[in-house]
Amino acid sequence: MALVTFTSPEYRDKTVYAVAGSHTQSVLKLALENKIPINFECEDGDCGTCLVKVSSIDKKHQRMGGPLTEKEKSILKQLGKVTKEELEKMIVDDLPSEWRLACQMIVRDEDLRVEY
Ligand code: FES
Repeated sequence: MALVTFTSPEYRDKTVYAVAGSHTQSVLKLALENKIPINFECEDGDCGTCLVKVSSIDKKHQRMGGPLTEKEKSILKQLGKVTKEELEKMIVDDLPSEWRLACQMIVRDEDLRVEY
């Protein structure tokens, strides 16, 4: 079972359990279920409002959730959080960006820190 710690300069840190074996639960869904006030609008990877910074606490895997969706890649580029070169490197190295869209990132079985 994954532990996800949500942290923000404005609120107290909150650590919650992500459902074991669920590969459909997004970081945003998990946050809303636990009353964590992440900003969001479209819930569909179009607006970029739910931008978060994610790091892995689980040293075993060193991966951060599932791969970036096409919408995420496009919005992160628009927001200037990743360059085209960084995106290409991520694909080659099979590593996701630390910047993610909470509505697009699916929680995997790893402990995460999510800054919002
Ligand atoms: Fe719009 Fe996530 S809520 S991109």
